[in-house]
Amino acid sequence: MRGWLMTSVALATMGSAAMAAPAPTAWQNRALTADQRADLLVQAMTEDEKITVVTGLFGSQFALPAYRRAEARPQSAGYVPGIPRLGFTPQWQSDAGSGVATQGAAPPALERTALPSGILTASTWDPAAATAAGAVVGAEARASGFNEQLAGGVDLDRDPGNGRNFEYGGEDPWLAGTMVGAFIKGIQSNAIITTIKHYAMNDQETGRNFVDVKVDQAAARTSDLLAFQIAIEQGNPWSVMCSYNLVNGQHACQNDWLLNKVLKGDWGYQGFVMSDWGAQHDTVADALGGLDQETGVGLGKTDYHVWLEKLKAAIADGRVPKAVLDDKVRRIARALIASGAVDSPVAPGPIDFAAHALASQHAAEAGIVLLKNQGDILPLAGRAKTIAVFGGHADVGVLSGGGSAQVYSPGGTAVPDPDAAQGFPHPIVYYKSSPVDGLKAGLPDAAIHYSDGADRAAAAAAAKKADVAIVFVTQWTAESRDFPLTLPDDQDSLVAAVAAANPNTIVVLETGAAVTMPWAGKVKGIVEAWYPGTNGGQAIARVLTGAVNPSGHLPISFPQKPEDYPRAKPAGLGLPEGQGFPVTLTEGASVGYKWLGKNNTAPLFAFGHGLSYTSFAKTGLTANVAGQDLRVSFRIRNTGRVAGAEVGQIYVAPVPGGWEGPKRLGGYGKAMLAAGAEQTVTLTIDPRLLATWDEGRHGWHVTAGQYRVTLASSAVDAGSSVTVTLPERWLPAGRGAALASR
Ligand code: BGC
Repeated sequence: MRGWLMTSVALATMGSAAMAAPAPTAWQNRALTADQRADLLVQAMTEDEKITVVTGLFGSQFALPAYRRAEARPQSAGYVPGIPRLGFTPQWQSDAGSGVATQGAAPPALERTALPSGILTASTWDPAAATAAGAVVGAEARASGFNEQLAGGVDLDRDPGNGRNFEYGGEDPWLAGTMVGAFIKGIQSNAIITTIKHYAMNDQETGRNFVDVKVDQAAARTSDLLAFQIAIEQGNPWSVMCSYNLVNGQHACQNDWLLNKVLKGDWGYQGFVMSDWGAQHDTVADALGGLDQETGVGLGKTDYHVWLEKLKAAIADGRVPKAVLDDKVRRIARALIASGAVDSPVAPGPIDFAAHALASQHAAEAGIVLLKNQGDILPLAGRAKTIAVFGGHADVGVLSGGGSAQVYSPGGTAVPDPDAAQGFPHPIVYYKSSPVDGLKAGLPDAAIHYSDGADRAAAAAAAKKADVAIVFVTQWTAESRDFPLTLPDDQDSLVAAVAAANPNTIVVLETGAAVTMPWAGKVKGIVEAWYPGTNGGQAIARVLTGAVNPSGHLPISFPQKPEDYPRAKPAGLGLPEGQGFPVTLTEGASVGYKWLGKNNTAPLFAFGHGLSYTSFAKTGLTANVAGQDLRVSFRIRNTGRVAGAEVGQIYVAPVPGGWEGPKRLGGYGKAMLAAGAEQTVTLTIDPRLLATWDEGRHGWHVTAGQYRVTLASSAVDAGSSVTVTLPERWLPAGRGAALASR
């Protein structure tokens, strides 16, 4: 056995013509490294087989007939045929971040557990919770026969109206990067691949195929790209999805700077790059620009393909070197081998839906954010005898986000979508998990009545008679469009009517991102539940009753009004489909709380904000330099009467200023504490968060001098601060040792 192994490796590495070629299946030898196996596999493949591996077909049965394959999984996003001759696996690709999704609305949908939306997971500020949620997604992907999950969205919430903000990890590169990285780790713990997306600067959906995002390279490296870089380092996703938009004049999927220079060059990325579905544009430019796999071929009415058939000709006449194709195939093969997807083939199997629903519920409970709790109106247990509940279909279910990420939870939708016939990104889906039923179960002695609130006067009258009124408001957001920050269907007037009638009004939001709340000052309680997944109704109810002590914190800022942001409306709104347009990110890296802070604009609710039913004291902040690193430590004590979890947030800033905002999140730590308990948290601050990108020296530069380190509860909390003096430091673009002084 061993001798055979040695011979194969030797043959593979020597490639000597004098020796016999390795057996076609030599690559299957598990004793070899993934690199060795990938090399042997590439060597054994014909050119046609290589082109098969880099060509992703639309997986669904709705693909154009020429591209439909019996072996593809029904209603799935993608399918790449395997190479049976060599025993190489097909690639079965499924969306997305909340679980195994279904392409298109046509029944029967795959019914799978919906985990909470990405923004809710980020709200946990708890990487372990994200990994646990990801592990459930990955387990269902595997048990559904998928070995690639198109998940791990980390575009920054730069435009609060972006219809896909619900899929992402918020506005801060460190929080988004660490949380999404942790989520990816969970998915890949099932020996499958994830595809982090959408790389890069895909921060609005309006005109997403035509918008040309103009961004300063240093600003990009300190914002959106840093989020990707951190998530990739932490989660090691085996694949990256390049996005639909252009960046600085070049399509993202043929963008030499993004793909070849930054991702594969500076960051040393070893995985492969697949296009977003149909984001490939040109046979040669894409091949040379860093794309490794075209996808979505045969999607809708277009075939989209730029490589199938065409790449062969480009190789034959030398426009694309053979080695370029080999590198693509090697990356894909290596990813499938190293992830375990080859050696542990996926196959449809049973799913423990009950256990996964509970896991989804726990994930939601860890991230629901208590935004306001005036006079301790919450929790409800033991207080209110009569509760009037209004709106949001809270009697039957909870909302989910739309588009390719749409998961269909077991049991179907609780509220049929009257506009389902409009097609993608419809239908709007509500999961059958009723907050009202959850409240009734948790508060057996209370009289709880629901009405949809459509009749505002009747709602006010009903609210007046109750001890407490709870209004559920929803905003459906979805891929392929952006949304105003105002709640739809005049729900603001429902809140206003109820709040005017009952001083004890609580609002529960189910939204994909920030909305405006003109009534915020008039209600006592506000809870942001995002899109909370399969068991979201139970999770919301348990937070409201107090069975769960909320510990979520905002991963985004909620602005007072759209004008508080660099773009009050998405660029290109109203332009005809197909017309290209630029959006210049004049704010650079000044995203979210950095922008608001720089402009002295108070948010409605700040990044990092989140309340609890207990109280905490955060003390003992110290900051010192250990080696070259900034080491911070502090204590969190639960000073209240119930157990709860608190996040210590560390913000950093140079004392003289000069960054893209007054401060950056430098680190965070969440502590789960029994009443009276205390924990010490110690963090090492990632030096890139103390640095600026120097394009000339192509590295990160920490300026010598004094830095303020603040321990706070949000981006606007003064908290407590210490100063520390840091030495000058240079760091390379990617992982690795500090740059020598030049
Ligand atoms: C989306 C991707 C998704 C792909 C496959 C695209 O429209 O932008 O996020 O993975 O479709 O469904």
